[in-house]
Amino acid sequence: MNQININSILNSKSLIGEKIKINGWVRTFRANRFIALNDGSTIENLQCVIDYENIQSNVLKKINTGAAIQIIGILSESQGLKQKVEVVVEEFKILGESNPETYPIQPKKHSFEFLRENAHLRTRTNTFSAIMRIRSSLSFAIHEFFQKNEFLYVHTPIITSSDAEGAGQQFRVTTLNPNDTSLDLEGKVDFKKDFFGKETHLTVSGQLEAEAYAMSLGKVYTFGPTFRAENSNTSRHLSEFWMIEPEVAFMDLEGNIKLAEEFLKYVLSYIIRFNLKDLKFLENRLIKEDSQKPKNERNNMNLIEKLNFVINNEFKKISYSDAFKILRNSKPNKKKKFKFIVDEWGTDFQSEHERFLVEKEFNCPVVIYNYPADIKSFYMRLNDDDRTVKAMDILFPGIGEIVGGSQREERLDVLLKRIKKFGIKEKDVWWYTDLRKYGSAPHSGFGLGFERLVMFATGMSNIRDVIPFPRTPQNAEF
Ligand code: 4AD
Ligand code: MG
Repeated sequence: MNQININSILNSKSLIGEKIKINGWVRTFRANRFIALNDGSTIENLQCVIDYENIQSNVLKKINTGAAIQIIGILSESQGLKQKVEVVVEEFKILGESNPETYPIQPKKHSFEFLRENAHLRTRTNTFSAIMRIRSSLSFAIHEFFQKNEFLYVHTPIITSSDAEGAGQQFRVTTLNPNDTSLDLEGKVDFKKDFFGKETHLTVSGQLEAEAYAMSLGKVYTFGPTFRAENSNTSRHLSEFWMIEPEVAFMDLEGNIKLAEEFLKYVLSYIIRFNLKDLKFLENRLIKEDSQKPKNERNNMNLIEKLNFVINNEFKKISYSDAFKILRNSKPNKKKKFKFIVDEWGTDFQSEHERFLVEKEFNCPVVIYNYPADIKSFYMRLNDDDRTVKAMDILFPGIGEIVGGSQREERLDVLLKRIKKFGIKEKDVWWYTDLRKYGSAPHSGFGLGFERLVMFATGMSNIRDVIPFPRTPQNAEF
C-alpha cells in the first residue's frame, strides 16, 4: 500500500474505493468522529471518519489539534457537502501526541505577531503554509525562466572581501577573539592574523562575481542569500534576504529592463497556474481584512486580479528627471504632505515618493531609469550628460522598490574615476577592473529582492511573514 499525500489524493479520481495510508497533523477533531487532517501538501484538509466503537476511548483522547497521526483507510465519496471525498478509517496510529492545553496553534485566529514568536509552528496554519508553498513555487519558476532562456546558474560566494554596494552595511566574518586581538604597528586590528588573512564580510550582493562569469559565459544568474547590516526596522527590510541577480554580456539598459519585466511576468503567471488554491485562500483573507478597514484604505483590486494586472499590462517607464518633475509638481509636495519635500534635482526618492508614483500617479508597476550618478553605485555606466547613470529601479504597488539594476561601466578609464570618487581602493577591486582590461564589453544586470516578490505575490504586508525564520535587528531567534 502506497503512502500518499493529501494533495495527490484530492487530485485523483481513480483512488476512490482504494485502501490508502496517510500521515499528517490533526487540525480539528469534531464530534469524536471527524478528523480534519493536514499534511502540508495542500491548503485543503482531508476528512477522516472514525468509527469510534473500534477505538479505545483512551486513544480517542489523544486525537488533539497538533498531534501527528497515521491513518490507513478506504477513500470514499463523502456523505457531507463540504468535501468530495473522505477516508473511512480502518487503522489508526498516534505518532506524536500534542497537549491541547499548551499547543500554541489553536484552531482560531492568531495575530501575525504571535505567530512570528512561534515561527517554528506557524506553517501549521493555512496562511503560512500557503505562503511557503507559493515561495517554493516562485523559486522553481525563477530557475525555470532562466534555464529556459539559457542562463547558467552560478554560485557566487557568501564570504567576500569586497563591498559590492559600497554602502558599508556588512556583517563581519572573523575568527579573531574579540577579547584578545593583536594590533599592528599602527595600533589597528591586524587582520593578517585573521582566518583569511584579510578583512572579510558576508556578501551584500553576488553581482561583482556574477559580472566576472557573464564576461565569459554570457548569460548567468545567481540566486542566494545576501546580508545587510542596515539598521532599518521596516516592514520591507531583512538583515538576511534572498536575491536573484542575472548578469548578461552584450546587453544594454533597455534590454535589461525588458528582461526584468518578462521575468517578473513569467514567475507571477507561474503561480497563477500552479498555486491557485493557495492564492484564493490568501485573497479571501485579504478581503476579510479589508472589510474591517475604512473604505479609502481598502485595496482597489483583489489579489489575483492584481497579479493579472501586472502580468497583462506594460510597466510604465520614466526617467528620474521626469519622475522628479512629476513629484515636485504633485499635490502632496506642494501642500507639504510629504515628509521629505522634493525640490532639488539629485535627491534620492523616499518610499513615500515611490508610492505616490506607483499608487497615485500611474497605478501600475513603474520603471525609473537614468538616476543621478551621485546617489547610485560606482559600477553603473555613466551617461553622456556626465551626471546620470544607466540605472533602473522597478517599483511595485504596495511594495516600492522590488528590483534594482543597471548597465555596468565597461570603460576602464571611466570606471577608475568612479572608483576613486567613491573612495574605493583600487587594489581591493583589481580583479573587477581586470575585466575591463581584457575583452571588456557592454553588459547589464539587476537584483530582485526575493522576499519583496513573495510579499507582492501573497499580499502580505510584512516581509517577516514571507521568509521562514526572519533575521532583523535585535532578532535572530530560531
Ligand atoms: O538595489 P539593491 O541594493 O541592488 C543590488 O544589490 C545590486 N547589486 C543588484 C544587481 O544589480 N545585481 O538590491 C536589489 C534588491 C532591491 O531592489 C530590493 O528588492 C532587495 O534587493 N533588497 C532587500 N530586500 C529585503 N531586505 C533588504 N534589506 C533589502 N535590500 C535590498
Ligand atoms: Mg536599490
